[in-house]
Amino acid sequence: RIMKRSYHEKVIDHYENPRNVGNLPKGDMDVGTGLVGAPACGDVMKLQIRVGEDGVISEVKFKTFGCGSAIASSSYMTERVKGMTLEQAGAVKNTEIAKELCLPPVKLHCSLLAEDAIKSAIKDYQTKRAKRTAAATPPP
Ligand code: FES
Ligand code: FES
Repeated sequence: RIMKRSYHEKVIDHYENPRNVGNLPKGDMDVGTGLVGAPACGDVMKLQIRVGEDGVISEVKFKTFGCGSAIASSSYMTERVKGMTLEQAGAVKNTEIAKELCLPPVKLHCSLLAEDAIKSAIKDYQTKRAKRTAAATPPP
């Protein structure tokens, strides 16, 4: 009985008390937005990061329209990557999330959504940054 409770405890906690739910202003130059969907079930996850000049993630927010495991995965991901460099955050694997939250194999794709979302947010931030750098460089 105790085993059974602890098996779901972390998922339920993240599901009932999701961390860092909300939005960051998409237009901010230091914000990266990742929006991904799971083809397997149609669930959608939005994850946003704010990155400091030091290249470290200072703020993370998410909105997930999906199952409990997807919500728990994104909640866990926001806590995991805060304070990380982009490189470190991009290396967080869904298998780590699945293990941490004890997700069953059929729910693996829910944690994959969180991995895709952070990667997509990092990419969006880097694209914005590259554009800004290009704009700041005067033409020859
Ligand atoms: Fe997507 Fe679970 S199938 S909510
Ligand atoms: Fe599809 Fe969880 S994200 S069932």
